[in-house]
Amino acid sequence: MTHGPGLITGGTGQLGRALSLTAPPDRRYHAPPRDAFDLARPGDLPAILDRLRPAWIVNAAAYTDVDAAEKDEAAAGLVNAEAPRVLAAWAAENGARLIHISTDFVFGHGPHLPIQPDMPVAPLNAYGRTKAAGEARVRDAMPNAVILRTSYLYGPDFGTGFVDRMLAAALKREALQVVTDQTGSPTAAPDLARLIWAILAQPLTGGGIHHAACRGAASRYDLIAEALELARGQGVPIRCARLEPVASDRFPSPARRPDYSALDSSGLDQIFGVGMPAWQHALRDHVTAIAPDLRRLAAKA
Ligand SMILES: NC(=O)c1ccc[n+]([C@@H]2O[C@H](COP(=O)([O-])OP(=O)(O)OC[C@H]3O[C@@H](n4cnc5c(N)ncnc54)[C@H](OP(=O)(O)O)[C@@H]3O)[C@@H](O)[C@H]2O)c1
Repeated sequence: MTHGPGLITGGTGQLGRALSLTAPPDRRYHAPPRDAFDLARPGDLPAILDRLRPAWIVNAAAYTDVDAAEKDEAAAGLVNAEAPRVLAAWAAENGARLIHISTDFVFGHGPHLPIQPDMPVAPLNAYGRTKAAGEARVRDAMPNAVILRTSYLYGPDFGTGFVDRMLAAALKREALQVVTDQTGSPTAAPDLARLIWAILAQPLTGGGIHHAACRGAASRYDLIAEALELARGQGVPIRCARLEPVASDRFPSPARRPDYSALDSSGLDQIFGVGMPAWQHALRDHVTAIAPDLRRLAAKA
């Protein structure tokens, strides 16, 4: 158990905000803004860490712009691979714990069965390559670091992620097109955050890579179909009457996305005694939470 002050990177991101919303009252931690702890300047980090002396680190920051990473892989690599190495090396040297967050995008084409943590990585794009390199460097520098791969993250609040953007669009448009050939394990950020706090509350265990996504698999189409249904059930005036299944080539983008990257997270229960909910349950909680925002947005339109 680790009760000294900790450090959360990426505090302004989806997971960072979820961590702050779900933090146990007795947890103290620093969550410096990017300009005070810039992962794009890994050389600056050890001196800052020496000053903060965190007992634990949750690295929730990442270069997450998948298309931008395609154009500047070196910049993404600094944040996603080199900075995590520096965090891991400092943590190993100073007896701090590290939970590092990684992604389903280290995979490309799954076997169309939820992917086990020990399957070989095969990223299809620059973002995935830099995140895979981050995992490897963290493991080398600190074998007992806990690496949690998650997938299709959304929440905790009404924001600009895929689910919320599509719901907002569905308030205005008669028809929406969503791809059927990308499948992941949609994960609510608060569920991942609660798992992280639960892991930190336990004695150090479970070093290595784990899958930490909500249970089950859904294509982006399935995900949005379910979200629209849930929003209607919450009295949100959804205008979209036609959800059209399309293939990914309908939306050309600089980075290729995995066609199948759903994660098998069933090992969590055995190792940490805590599991993740089914993706449909987590989505229901999210849509219920943001329904007032959607109704307000609809009233303004
Ligand atoms: N989003 C997904 O669908 C998804 C799926 C699988 C895995 N993941 C992984 O889950 C973790 C959390 O993702 P998220 O969705 O919460 O990300 P996010 O919402 O995009 O937030 C990224 C966070 O990283 C910070 N950041 C970016 N560059 C930085 C830098 N140079 N120095 C310091 N901080 C920097 C951002 O700060 P600013 O606010 O200053 O930009 C922000 O707080 C990441 O490891 C990501 O790879 C995400």
